Amino acid sequence: MGFFSKDIKTMDDLFVHTLRDVYYAEQQVEKNLPKMIEKATNLSLKADFEAHLAETRGQIERLEKVFEMHGVKAKAVHCPAIDGILKEADEVAGEVEDKQVLDAALIAAGQAVEHYEITRYGTLIAWAKQLGRPDCAAELEKNLAEEKAADKKLTARAQGGVNLAAAE
Ligand SMILES: [Fe+2]
Ligand SMILES: [Fe+2]
Repeated sequence: MGFFSKDIKTMDDLFVHTLRDVYYAEQQVEKNLPKMIEKATNLSLKADFEAHLAETRGQIERLEKVFEMHGVKAKAVHCPAIDGILKEADEVAGEVEDKQVLDAALIAAGQAVEHYEITRYGTLIAWAKQLGRPDCAAELEKNLAEEKAADKKLTARAQGGVNLAAAE
């Protein structure tokens, strides 16, 4: 089903569709983070990715809770956007030989993922409120807060030496 499929008639349909989109995205992130952990050289960066993998698993569970609260089936719909972001990350990482430059590439890839998640959760929270579901919005806020924190951590990692080391 495409994003502007005729099956989406109401704001509620759009909300559920986008919830399923981010559910898919989180599942793909969960699948891809172990690869990024393996490739990272900087131990702090590795630890950040590991912590975010654990968080991602919690986020998936939280999304399942939101589906249940909203009375719809927890189902993933294909999200080409996250596939593209992850595919590009994989391709770039495959082309970087220098370990420190690879860390910088992994941070950039990680931040692209975080920003995608941040935009999706921001939208979902606004729509949940509009639909009179502050309870769903509150759960989604928890995921958004974790994505923002993960993004900040990656920025700190880059500024704290990974990019400098890569430039040497
Ligand atoms: Fe996430
Ligand atoms: Fe994330």
